[in-house]
Amino acid sequence: MARKPIIAGNWKMNNTASEGVKLIEELKPLVEGASCDVAVCVPAIDIPAIAQAVQGSNIRLGAQNVHFAEKGAFTGEISAKMLQEYGVDYVIIGHSERRQYFGETDETVNKRVLAALSAGLTPIVCVGETLSEREAGKTEQTLSRELSEGLRNVPDLEKLVIAYEPIWAIGTGRTASPEQANETIGSIRETLGKLFCPRCAENVRIQYGGSMNAGNCKALMAQPEIDGGLIGGASLKAPDFAAIVRFDK
Ligand code: 13P
Repeated sequence: MARKPIIAGNWKMNNTASEGVKLIEELKPLVEGASCDVAVCVPAIDIPAIAQAVQGSNIRLGAQNVHFAEKGAFTGEISAKMLQEYGVDYVIIGHSERRQYFGETDETVNKRVLAALSAGLTPIVCVGETLSEREAGKTEQTLSRELSEGLRNVPDLEKLVIAYEPIWAIGTGRTASPEQANETIGSIRETLGKLFCPRCAENVRIQYGGSMNAGNCKALMAQPEIDGGLIGGASLKAPDFAAIVRFDK
């Protein structure tokens, strides 16, 4: 089965609802008819407005986090069901910024992944090594820990999207070289093959993320293991994001 590429924007903490709607209106005609799946993962409070703005277009909606409990006393949190009611399809889980600044662990990643899946959301699970881990030759060790613990008890690997985001490449302008990203994503696929089954690993989509932009997307997307991108900074400008979505043009 050929894997359909998926380009997703991660707006992070950018764009008020009205700024976001403007961006979507500009983006819609630019990405119409794209051959890949397109999504924007927006701040939670923007979701109602963006859900309306993307209606009738090929842009799918994503969130940037989800709580693992169905409901209850978790002040400030948002459940999968709340996302689902607005037609959210994707949810980023375990982004390195959440791991670094908000105490996210492999264990909480795992709980969120299972909760998202049972609510019918597609998790975009982020993994990636720090610069010091890479330099110490510990990339594979970090990734296989994040995968085996973060994806524990996942019933169907193919319902996930994985994003490989080397932490040293996020927001730094320093991209992994296409060959480097391809090789690491290949090793992620191998690990997934052992944890789940080789065929599931072959079918699961794995994105690259980290300073991906209009200039480097073609070379990255030309690599056989790379099935898409999770785009931060470059997803905040419609022409830039659209150029990435149209990497094959
Ligand atoms: P940048 O594209 O800004 O490097 O961010 C990548 C990222 O963290 C996407 O989730």
